[in-house]
Amino acid sequence: MKHFLDLSLIKKNELRQIVESAKSRKQSRNAKGKVSVDIDKPFEGKLLLMVFEKPSTRTRLSFDLAMRQLGGQTIVINSENLHLGMGGESTEDTARVFSSFSDIVMLRTFDHKTLIKFSELLSIPIINGLTNDSHPCQILSDVMTFEEIKGPIEGKTIAWIGDGNNVTNSLIEASALFDFKLNVACPKSYFPSKKVLSWAKKNKADVNITNIPEDAAKDADCIMTDKWISMGDKGNLSKKRKAFKNFQVNKKLMKLAKKDAIFMHDLPAQRGEEVSEDIIDGKQSVVWQQAENRLHCQKGIIEWCLKD
Ligand code: CP
Ligand code: NVA
Repeated sequence: MKHFLDLSLIKKNELRQIVESAKSRKQSRNAKGKVSVDIDKPFEGKLLLMVFEKPSTRTRLSFDLAMRQLGGQTIVINSENLHLGMGGESTEDTARVFSSFSDIVMLRTFDHKTLIKFSELLSIPIINGLTNDSHPCQILSDVMTFEEIKGPIEGKTIAWIGDGNNVTNSLIEASALFDFKLNVACPKSYFPSKKVLSWAKKNKADVNITNIPEDAAKDADCIMTDKWISMGDKGNLSKKRKAFKNFQVNKKLMKLAKKDAIFMHDLPAQRGEEVSEDIIDGKQSVVWQQAENRLHCQKGIIEWCLKD
């Protein structure tokens, strides 16, 4: 059984296969209706169960459409509607019910340990739809989007300017697995996970961390960012916002990147904080293509989990 938990747990060639399959399914759909089923209907009769502890727009819609286009069906539950979420049932008992009613689960949760616990208890695959620690689905669709516009990502330079968060952690893992150079600029107290950085080092990733955004942005092929405040972020948030005040992706910073560099954001965005309006809504921005590609990549991920 294959769980999609983190990029670092999946082989390089299999991740590449997911991205390539997403590209080819995207191309072969042409102008079909949103929910018309792909010709091979690989998962007819199968059910994807999605459980959300946090809000979601893109992940929810893209997984729902993806499963339907693959011939299957979906059920979406918010955790406050589950006995588990209300504290009335154990994870063990909930996992047993999930396994008997569905074929695959996608979970968006706060604590990464909840995802791991489910993966140990379920007898069906589970997909990480974002935890506080990582967001691997997002990064696969970012790799796909980058390659649609700029060609192979191998050897290219990506700059991450902003919080060292769940999305950054998955991006760091991707830099080793897709062989691109990654410059990360964050204020010192918001650096990415030490565990992920040491995994990256062991896996010979070309990752450079700095607290100077200009250094990270220089000659980059792509500048990426994310909200300064993530869902469920605790602590002194106004202090956090202050620490990031020189980390906005704006015209001045984009000018340091290559002339034809693109701008990416996983969304949702806070215009005027991590990115200026003219950049996210400007010519270099590919954020809507990124959002659309979530659909195609989710199909690749579901296929990887369900096919032997
Ligand atoms: N990027 C992303 O995962 O968006 P949602 O929170 O809307 O799912
Ligand atoms: N870092 C953001 C990503 C949202 C898709 C969050 O966790 O809220």
